[in-house]
Amino acid sequence: MSNGLSVVLVHRSERERAGLKAAFEALPNVQVAGERSDLRAGIALAHQVRPAILVLELAAPVDDTLAAAGQYKLDHPDVAIFLCTDVFDPDTLLRAMRAGATEVLRRPLDRGALSTAVERVSALTARKQGGGARRHVFTVFSNKGGQGVSTIATNLALSLRGAGREVALVDFDYQSGDVAFLLGLSPRRSLGDVIAAPHIDSASVQDALTKHESGLFVLAQPEQLDRVDGLTGPQVGTVLEILGSTFEIVVIDAPHVFNEISLEVFDRSSSVLLVAEPSVPSVRAARRSLDLFQKLNYLALPDRVRLLMNRRSDSSAITAVQLEETLGVPVFATVSNDYAAVSQAINMGRPLCGGSIPEGRAGRDLAALARQLVPVESSNGAAAEAAAPAKRPGRMRLFGRG
Ligand SMILES: Nc1ncnc2c1ncn2[C@@H]1O[C@H](COP(=O)(O)OP(=O)(O)OP(=O)(O)O)[C@@H](O)[C@H]1O
Ligand SMILES: [Mg+2]
Repeated sequence: MSNGLSVVLVHRSERERAGLKAAFEALPNVQVAGERSDLRAGIALAHQVRPAILVLELAAPVDDTLAAAGQYKLDHPDVAIFLCTDVFDPDTLLRAMRAGATEVLRRPLDRGALSTAVERVSALTARKQGGGARRHVFTVFSNKGGQGVSTIATNLALSLRGAGREVALVDFDYQSGDVAFLLGLSPRRSLGDVIAAPHIDSASVQDALTKHESGLFVLAQPEQLDRVDGLTGPQVGTVLEILGSTFEIVVIDAPHVFNEISLEVFDRSSSVLLVAEPSVPSVRAARRSLDLFQKLNYLALPDRVRLLMNRRSDSSAITAVQLEETLGVPVFATVSNDYAAVSQAINMGRPLCGGSIPEGRAGRDLAALARQLVPVESSNGAAAEAAAPAKRPGRMRLFGRG
């Protein structure tokens, strides 16, 4: 995995270790590289593995752990040391900080705070390596149904994931909710759980994600679509803010309407991919969308709205050039009409771009679209556009519930 953060866990309690492991591994781009119950063995392992994060239980005798932590930090200054403890006297905490600890994990573990702490380490590591990856939010949209939005969003997300990036696919089409189905998933958790939670935070969003076998994380619509009745723009905004700070790329299957939800989604998108088919009703619908994007001032920025022509075929009544002339915007990419492959993929829950080689003409076009949107060489070196703010030096963060 690219730019993965490795973690070594040292804790005497097997149960605590298991809990920590599950919490870390639920975060994207994080792998637990090893765990030990014994401090000496744990430090030895860390010397070998050189993790980005070393988690140590701060157990009695506290001095031994702090000395070991301090020595390890001297040897490996880039490591982030997280201490697990129930001891909170100011003197111990001060000594922990002097020993180089950056975070203190309390019980019960607050997964949201853990996620934020890991993001800080990730941003810092990325900066040291010459800048974090540029973040993208791609929204696939059509104000008319049945134009291929879900097919494009799903396969685009898979193709981007296939290049080793951390990608989340969000199904905001609360009228259809097709994404999980197209991926052959039966998610147990969904957007319904996010909005049912008392408040939306990193933990509730992370918990609602389903991991596809490709490593793509999916925020699906619930099976009963009425569970997202009452979804609001601000809720959508919070969900996207959290996903945007966690994932390199977020791909959205947007609802086919202009309303509070879609406008919030557009506002938070780095690019809206407007889908049109080569048919008169579809072009008319795209025209109406562009008029609205114009009013919203989206067309002032290059690449904010990109036109995709789906179901392109040599025998279509409308060519790509005619589409451009009619709509007054360039066609960014085309996806071939490939009814057999697309319908088979949908019916079998095996998307075109799910394997190592994209299937059919449409699959190849969608893989090319992904490369066009995020060229492979730009994924690592680009500026840290949306990287999380750097950790302030010398400040200890305490987190945990209660
Ligand atoms: N490139 C393509 N070639 C052939 N058929 C396609 C193509 N893209 C989409 N389709 C067909 O169009 C139909 C709609 O596709 P999809 O569900 O992806 O669109 P949508 O815009 O998300 O529709 P909905 O209104 O259901 O949200 C599907 O049955 C699919 O078979
Ligand atoms: Mg759809």
